[in-house]
Amino acid sequence: MKKVKFTDLYELIHDKSAILKRVNYLIKKSQFIGGKEVLNFENNFSKYVNSKYCISVANGTDALEIAIASLNLKKGSEIILPVNTWISTAEAIVTNGCRIVFCDVNLDDYSICLKDLKKKLSNKTKAIMVVHLYGNPTNILQIKKIINKRNIKIIEDCAQAHGTRLLGKHVGTLGDVGTFSFFPGKNLGGFGDGGAIVTNSVKIYRYCLRARNHGALGKYDHIFSGRNSRLDTINAAVLNIKLKNYNKVVKRRNELANIYFKGLRKIKNIDLFNLSEKNTHSFHQFVIRTKKRDPLSSFLKKYKIQTMVHYPYMLNELKFFNGKEVKKAKDLGKKILSLPISEEHSDDQIKYVVQKINSYFKKNY
Ligand SMILES: Cc1ncc(COP(=O)(O)O)c(C=O)c1O
Repeated sequence: MKKVKFTDLYELIHDKSAILKRVNYLIKKSQFIGGKEVLNFENNFSKYVNSKYCISVANGTDALEIAIASLNLKKGSEIILPVNTWISTAEAIVTNGCRIVFCDVNLDDYSICLKDLKKKLSNKTKAIMVVHLYGNPTNILQIKKIINKRNIKIIEDCAQAHGTRLLGKHVGTLGDVGTFSFFPGKNLGGFGDGGAIVTNSVKIYRYCLRARNHGALGKYDHIFSGRNSRLDTINAAVLNIKLKNYNKVVKRRNELANIYFKGLRKIKNIDLFNLSEKNTHSFHQFVIRTKKRDPLSSFLKKYKIQTMVHYPYMLNELKFFNGKEVKKAKDLGKKILSLPISEEHSDDQIKYVVQKINSYFKKNY
C-alpha cells in the first residue's frame, strides 16, 4: 500500500472544471467583492442547514467573535466552554470582554459534559458555547432542559460539523446562533479562509450583517464601528459548487467510519466514539483514544500512515487562559489520535489502517 495521507486537499476538489469555469467568469466580470455569488451562497447554505438567515464572513474565528457580539452581553459575563476545542472558540470569548468558564468533556463523543455543565452554571452565566467537535452533535435539547428557560444564550461552534444533525435538525439552528468555518481542510472547505453565521433571529441577523461590513449595509451607511469580514466572491463560487454535492461527502465519510468501527471495536486498548444512531455525524475527524497513542502513531508512520492530534492540549492547560483543572479531560491531549478519513480515501486504505492498528495491539498487549 502506498502512503495513506491524512488528507489531500487537491483530491478534495471534486469539480475542478466547473470551479475553473466559474472563477474565469468572475475574473472576466472583475467581480471580487460581494455580488450575486455571495448572496447565492448565503441562500444556499441557509437552505442546507434550514436556518432563516445566513451571513457569510471571512473565517470561522470572525464568525464566532461576531456571533458573541450579536448577543450584546455585558462585559465580564461568564460563558461556559468545553476545554477541548480549537483556540478560536476561547479567543472569541476573550475578545468580546467575557469570561471563560471551562467545562469538562463527555468521553463518548467529546461534547461538553452535562454533569459538569450543571456545576459550572452560576448567576453570572450568560451563555454556553457548545462545540460540535469532530462532526459529532452536542445534545442541545438536554442543555435547554438544564438551563430551564433561564436567560442563557446558546452559541454553537459548527466549524467541524457541516451536515451534522441532532435528531434530524442541522446543528447551528438549535441554539441562538451558529457559526461555521470553510477553512480548506474542513469537510466543506473553500479556496482560502471563509466562514458563516446562521440564526433564526432577525435581530442577530441585522447586527451581523452590519458588523461584518464596518457597521454599514450600503456605502457610507455606518451606524456603529464594525470590521471588514467578508467572504470573497471567488471563494463563495467555490463553496456554491462544492455544496451541491456535499451530502455525498457526508455519506462517504460515514461509510469509511463504519469500516473503522467494525475493524477496531474488538481492540481492548482503544476507545472509539460511542454515538447515537438517531443523529447524523459528519466525521470531520475519526478519533480514537489510547494510552499507547505516541508509540501507535510512530508505528503507523513506519507504514506511511499519517495521523494527527486534535488537539494535543486542553485549553485550560494553556497558562494564559488561567483555567481550572477538569477531571475527565485531564491528559486527554496525550491519548487522542485522529485517523485518516476523507471522502477521497478508498475502502482499502482505511482497511489497511485498521489492519495495522490491529497488528500493533497484537504485538503490544
Ligand atoms: C472548532 C473550531 N472552531 C473555530 C475554528 C476557526 O475557524 P477558522 O480557522 O476559519 O477561523 C476552527 C477551525 O479550525 C475550529 O475547528
